[in-house]
Amino acid sequence: MNHFEYRNGVMHCEQVSLEDIAREVGTPVYVYSTATLERHFTVFAGAVSAHPSLKSPKGEAPLVAYAVKTNSNLAVLRTLAAQGAGADTVSEGEIRKALKAGVPANKIVFSGVGKTDEEMAFALKAGIYQINVESPPELERLARVAATLNMIAPVVIRINPGVGAGGHAKITTGGAKDKFGVSAEEALRLYAEASAHRHIAPMGIACHIGSQITDLTPMQAAFSRMRGWVEDLRANGLSVERLDLGGGLGVPYFNQKEPPAPADYAEMVALTVGDLGVRYTFEPGRAITANAGVLLSRVIHIHERADSGQKFLVLDAGMNDLIRPALYDAYHDIRPVHAGDPADTTVYDVVGPVCETGDTFTRGREMPACREGDVVAFMTAGAYGAVMGSEYNSRPLAPEVLVRDADWSVVRPRPSYEQMMAAEPLPDWFSPRAVSA
Ligand code: LLP
Repeated sequence: MNHFEYRNGVMHCEQVSLEDIAREVGTPVYVYSTATLERHFTVFAGAVSAHPSLKSPKGEAPLVAYAVKTNSNLAVLRTLAAQGAGADTVSEGEIRKALKAGVPANKIVFSGVGKTDEEMAFALKAGIYQINVESPPELERLARVAATLNMIAPVVIRINPGVGAGGHAKITTGGAKDKFGVSAEEALRLYAEASAHRHIAPMGIACHIGSQITDLTPMQAAFSRMRGWVEDLRANGLSVERLDLGGGLGVPYFNQKEPPAPADYAEMVALTVGDLGVRYTFEPGRAITANAGVLLSRVIHIHERADSGQKFLVLDAGMNDLIRPALYDAYHDIRPVHAGDPADTTVYDVVGPVCETGDTFTRGREMPACREGDVVAFMTAGAYGAVMGSEYNSRPLAPEVLVRDADWSVVRPRPSYEQMMAAEPLPDWFSPRAVSA
């Protein structure tokens, strides 16, 4: 469920007309709904917290560490932090943003295959909840960094369970040939090694098998293997206090089969790995933010090719603003902000202004007929949208707006061309002084 609805024929985000935002802020612009963010987080956290078998031995509810990579706008993070969200982070920048937004350090998880020494030191000094270690050289380096700081690093070893799943090959992470994590065999060895180290405290194991998963079967397969490995570690006399099950739950991008609800997911988790006597961590991203955001764009014009008869709906948003269709052939519903006659449809190729054929959002899609100047909304754009934006073709990053009931605020302004260029100072040798006569 989300809070983008037509009222009197105009799409609104909560109480605010998207036409008004497009006019006042300009397009392209991302718009997020506070009520949807809050609802998605509380539904997910409520579902996993409701199960008695997912409580830790101390009675703690699972840690729900929102995957910051999906949408790292500070106002979005602040909104989720206020609901009790932790943060799953993959860089020092994300840790800093989570802390700044009010996520307590003891709810922050640090994952990723290439953490630098500086990032590890920053995370340790900040006192974060855990570092998810993804390889033997990483464990070695972390041990050195922790020893230098005379600290003990709380570590979880990321196992690649050998079950890949997800909406596209580029977002599948759990296969044996993916770069993430280590095999179970290696994890058991690493875990024992880590236990012997004075500056490492191995707390448990983690997995994440992919993203946009719409079927619980592969997750269940991976989780039941995780259960076995927790038991193996314990059988070897090692203590396992934490189990991190990653993110990955999919969302409906269009009228496909509804992905499993958080309650079904929680039920499956409880049945598969409940009652292990661990503190559970979840890292949902897309499920929280995707349907809480849209990208608004204006129709520049419609170009009908004389030779092929194809109709190109040319928008002012491009692949630099929303790269998912170009990168993953992802489908985003595109709806006019002013609802017209539902019977009046046309088949378009929807494209952006970027100079690449890849800057095509969709081909041959039947959708409501549009006119020059109309505003359209890319739905389900709150996750992996703005965060993956770039200035390709020297296009300023799209601004972001957060709506709360009847109120709204620009939470990331569009940079002016002057600001964009000020970020690229010229070397001294171009200054007039340095130019030789
Ligand atoms: N935890 C880990 C370790 C991850 O690698 C990811 C996502 C998540 C959690 C959050 O997964 P989610 O709940 O959002 O599925 N840019 C791609 C998706 C990349 C996913 C990367 N990892 C896209 O636009 O579809």
